[in-house]
Amino acid sequence: MSKSTFTIEEMDIKLKTNFIGTNFIFYDEIGSTNEELLKDTSITQHGTVLFADNQFKGRGRLNREWVSYKDHSITFSILLTENINAKTINLVNFAAAVSVAESIENLFQLDVRLKWPNDVLVVTRKVCGILVESVSKGDKIERVVVGIGVNVNQPMFEGHYNVPPTSIRKEFGKIVSRERLLAEILNEFENNLAKVNRNPQSILDNWRSRCKMIGEKVKVNDGKEETFGIFEDIDENGFLLLRDLKGTKKIFSGDVTLR
Ligand code: BTN
Repeated sequence: MSKSTFTIEEMDIKLKTNFIGTNFIFYDEIGSTNEELLKDTSITQHGTVLFADNQFKGRGRLNREWVSYKDHSITFSILLTENINAKTINLVNFAAAVSVAESIENLFQLDVRLKWPNDVLVVTRKVCGILVESVSKGDKIERVVVGIGVNVNQPMFEGHYNVPPTSIRKEFGKIVSRERLLAEILNEFENNLAKVNRNPQSILDNWRSRCKMIGEKVKVNDGKEETFGIFEDIDENGFLLLRDLKGTKKIFSGDVTLR
């Protein structure tokens, strides 16, 4: 295995958080950072970040695979063990997407847009995927794992993708620091996480302002069927409100495309 080019010290200098990433676990190689943080219950510290330089069996939404490349991507998961409930999990999803969007805007001034529920795009191409998973005992949620994968320095992409991918390097025109970007995302996430309980409306409004599909005709595919309508809004939990001739219905999961 070749030595990692990721320098924890370079990330640490830029990290300004109080608890996110203060416990930082680095793996050269692992199947899935989400899987590891979900199953290793000896790790309990709220805000622990588990980062993999090479994630070879990344999990995506709707049972898809998340493909990343050693030295070119960032793949990590954040463990939350405090102040969590069913409503929070959904909002954490949105807080994570908003944090990645803000970070990319702050550092690279790109035109970042958000696609329901939590894809981060540069204009129309996907630069980041987010997968939030949890472990419950009875009706108590014990662990929430926020998994984030960002395409950072890939020069190109091969293969077939649901949404066409891009990387920050392709959009910005230069190789960029993965350490700097990771620190920025963690800094923004700590800020936005505080708002999940204090001011959830601000997270939803922030997300809305970056979603260009609201008010548009869309198709939603939940894996079983396709539904058509106008993307009216998201509700207070972040669920999609889809309007057609029969009225407005709530969509809990799926892929949205413009039609
Ligand atoms: C998606 O868009 O389908 C979500 C992709 C989420 C990928 C990240 S990479 C880090 C974390 N570990 C995983 O196995 N998946 C998430």
